[in-house]
Amino acid sequence: MAEFDSRGTFRKAANEYAKIQDAFPDVIREPLLADMAVKEGDRILDLPCGTGDSIVKAMELAGPAGHALAIDISPAMIEEAKEKAEAAGVKNIQFVVEDMDKAQFDAAAYDIVVSANGPFFASDLRTFLAKMWGAVKPGGKLVTMTLGRNFLTPIAGTFLDLAQIKTEDLRISTPWSVTEDITFFKEVLEEVTGGQRIKITHRDVVMDYQTADGGWNLLMGTAFRNYTLAMSPQEQAEIEAEMKERMRANRQFSATCSFNNITVTKDVA
Ligand SMILES: C[S@@+](CC[C@H](N)C(=O)[O-])C[C@H]1O[C@@H](n2cnc3c(N)ncnc32)[C@H](O)[C@@H]1O
Repeated sequence: MAEFDSRGTFRKAANEYAKIQDAFPDVIREPLLADMAVKEGDRILDLPCGTGDSIVKAMELAGPAGHALAIDISPAMIEEAKEKAEAAGVKNIQFVVEDMDKAQFDAAAYDIVVSANGPFFASDLRTFLAKMWGAVKPGGKLVTMTLGRNFLTPIAGTFLDLAQIKTEDLRISTPWSVTEDITFFKEVLEEVTGGQRIKITHRDVVMDYQTADGGWNLLMGTAFRNYTLAMSPQEQAEIEAEMKERMRANRQFSATCSFNNITVTKDVA
């Protein structure tokens, strides 16, 4: 498998992904909302919105006068997001299943344009960021979050090694690596935004999953699910058993994710 299959991956991972967001709100939702600093009545564009964990909370803060457009390529992720919005009684989010490369939205129309763990899925990073920046109102902001060099370290590395050994000719593609070089990502953002007020923060988050089952579910609720698409059920069962055995033997019950959060604010005039 040379290409990363987003739709296939997140169709299988959606339910587990939603559970992870609930269990670890400090990993994505809380820092993202801190950067967004939502105000009552805000108009927000979120892509890709995933299971809606952040946009639903954001719209609780924006209140009924606010509005959000939330886009994701995965119908399964959007289904989870709609359920979350309904459970929270939030009605002013328009959810759209669409490839963000092709999505159209109004220019200079949003107080906040947000893309968490999404820019690296765009087929062309510059074009995507330019389109997002164009959607920001004067005085509004672009809020992004991308992965740094740790993505479920160390269990992801072990999983990928085992996956390649046990699955014939498995090709690994990791789209999130595109933006892990923060100098490169910042340069692209500066180019696209004209270098307006860029704020960067780096975080290393330790995720305590506590049991071997918890560690396996964490892998399977994220983009690493992609590599199981190329496995037979038996190969997957063998890898799962071996991963769990190693986690227990090494007493490895936590993993680190690093994130770079970047916010760019647009001048008023
Ligand atoms: C890691 S999740 C991030 C979701 C959410 N922003 C968050 O931080 O929880 C990545 C999401 O990107 C979506 N995705 C991947 N490629 C996409 C594309 N080309 N267009 C729209 N969504 C895409 C996936 O379906 C998945 O929901």
